[in-house]
Amino acid sequence: MNVDGKPYRTIWLSENGSDVRIIDQTRLPHEFCIASLKSLSDAIHAIRDMRVRGAPLIGITAAFGLGLAMRENHSNSALNDAANQLIATRPTAINLKWAVDELHTQLLNITATEREGFAMRHAQRLAEEDVSICSAIGDHGLEIIREIANKKHSSAPINILTHCNAGWLATADWGTALAPVYKAYDAGIQVHVWVDETRPRNQGASLTAWELLQHGVPHTVIVDNAGGHLMQHGMVDICITGTDRTTAGGDVCNKIGTYLKALAAHDNGIPFYVALPGPTIDWSIDDGLRDIPIEERDGNEVSHIMGGNSAGEITTVRLIPEGSRTANYAFDVTPRRYVTGLITEKGIALASRESLAALYLRQCHATLLENS
Ligand code: MRU
Repeated sequence: MNVDGKPYRTIWLSENGSDVRIIDQTRLPHEFCIASLKSLSDAIHAIRDMRVRGAPLIGITAAFGLGLAMRENHSNSALNDAANQLIATRPTAINLKWAVDELHTQLLNITATEREGFAMRHAQRLAEEDVSICSAIGDHGLEIIREIANKKHSSAPINILTHCNAGWLATADWGTALAPVYKAYDAGIQVHVWVDETRPRNQGASLTAWELLQHGVPHTVIVDNAGGHLMQHGMVDICITGTDRTTAGGDVCNKIGTYLKALAAHDNGIPFYVALPGPTIDWSIDDGLRDIPIEERDGNEVSHIMGGNSAGEITTVRLIPEGSRTANYAFDVTPRRYVTGLITEKGIALASRESLAALYLRQCHATLLENS
């Protein structure tokens, strides 16, 4: 997507291959900074500190991280150690574990001297695949938005509510939940996005708003608690969110607060869609509430908030009394019964084992065989 008219991906290998470049998302929307990752430790910090974030993007970053690790030391023990460290950075998004496990196995099967080059090429391929997947999600989601537009007998825009950032910043390009929005906007359908601010890290206010603004998509930032009110008053036509892990049975785990939006949508008869690439499906589990580990992050993200001051500096201030405790659960699970449909690169599925398995026959069978 374009930043000030210039096309960017969220991650890429530098021209001479010496380092991996990322957009530092902790500086947005105040500064657009490109950061350089030169070592395994840089990749680990970038993922843990959320300079890169979003399920697909952290998977790709972790694959590049393995490449950087192999540059430092290509022994088996360094490889195993790097894989373990990368997987431990963020436990909920399954793409990260999937990307690391797959590449780890392939690297163990080639000679140590081939590993760095292989891993870097593999990471680049993952990024390319992610772009195609997200573009296809956009095409399928566009049809849902088009259908709503055709039924809405007025010239008013289609109001889409989204939570967190599941836009191009969360992937290599296009995004998941926002890909249909960009495709609809580009197709000339009038859209307007309600952007949940998404405390505590404010991915909606900082990132979703920024990227929608860059593309020219009309949007309004709202506090996290406003969605229910808007839905009660007919101001939301459809909700679309992303997911960090989807179970084989169709439960979805996404940024904390997604569940409450799904409940409000259900109560108000508003379609609640979740957009996802195949790699976020965890075929080994069915019950999201029981089986998905929920990342708990530092309480400082709740007690403090970062923003730009009037002098243009990025600054952090405390919000809560000294001595008050905090809890910082990063994700929640939305049970399948509240999900109208899953927008995937292969088409739209119902949130059910049968419907997902019909789209992803091969992957589903492979996991069943592995576990049998
Ligand atoms: O904690 P984050 O910012 O990595 O969480 C991101 C989300 O919850 C996204 O909605 C999710 O990764 C799906 S994005 C393609």
